[in-house]
Amino acid sequence: MNQSQTTKQPSPASAGDAAAIQEEVVAYYSERARAVQTRTNDAGCCSNNPADENGEYRFYSDDELALTPAAASEASLGCGNPTTIASLRPGETVLDLGSGGGIDVFLAARQVGETGFVYGVDMTDEMLALARENARRGGFDNVEFRKGHIENLPLPDERIDVIMSNCVINLSPDKGQTLGEAFRVLKPGGRLAVSDIVIDGDLNDLPVDEATVRSALKWAGCIAGALTIDQFRHTLEEAGFEAIDIRIKHRYRLSDLGQDLESVREILSPEIAEELVGRFVSADIAARRP
Ligand SMILES: C[S@@+](CC[C@H](N)C(=O)[O-])C[C@H]1O[C@@H](n2cnc3c(N)ncnc32)[C@H](O)[C@@H]1O
Repeated sequence: MNQSQTTKQPSPASAGDAAAIQEEVVAYYSERARAVQTRTNDAGCCSNNPADENGEYRFYSDDELALTPAAASEASLGCGNPTTIASLRPGETVLDLGSGGGIDVFLAARQVGETGFVYGVDMTDEMLALARENARRGGFDNVEFRKGHIENLPLPDERIDVIMSNCVINLSPDKGQTLGEAFRVLKPGGRLAVSDIVIDGDLNDLPVDEATVRSALKWAGCIAGALTIDQFRHTLEEAGFEAIDIRIKHRYRLSDLGQDLESVREILSPEIAEELVGRFVSADIAARRP
């Protein structure tokens, strides 16, 4: 494969496709939030906390979990722990893109302390209600959850020191717009600290074309919309970021795919499906606004 294949940028979804994707995503995460509230939650997006070779792969330590309301950790649907990438300092202002039940907001709130502040933005009403209830129960008064799309952030220019996000940018139908908005609200010198699913390499050499593979995967499951590592880097560069660092943390297996497993098996043999899923990795992504 040549360089232009690996770095070819995905086009943003058309307005109609973007609306359909976001409808699917809202429906899926509304259900996840309700499941936590009624205690019927199961592993959700990104097949949370996939096991490593030792059967243990955890994004949060017991000490961290003890710092957050139980319902926030039960609602955790991420693919990493962005608070470990961010090196947060007391007094900083932080924004979490797609804050869900709020686990990373609460961890960040502990780190920035009472002189700092943490915003969460999410488009799903049920998730916002869950996060606000978690904040109330945990007694957090240095956090605020705002309703909005990460493609059009409800925050002014240059307000934020650190943007975090945990397994959400892959869900955006327009990642260029999302990272452009992240750049806009960051102060000069501000940092980006993201955990997300990306593709290590590309999907070019499979026996079925990339569009077919992606359509077999549910967008809301965090895999179908993943960028390649090269595409993510280029999208960050185009938005204006520098000091970009992308590190693979975990390589997925077929058994991690949960709800998408059957649809993938319908189009690919088990061997090729296993190989395909191994190209999807969770990564820690750091960058800085100059
Ligand atoms: C995979 S969950 C991750 C939640 C949280 N970051 C965590 O680690 O538990 C994705 C969350 O992002 C929200 N979301 C997805 N796409 C979004 C968008 N375009 N704008 C705002 N929120 C979005 C969903 O409503 C959901 O709460």
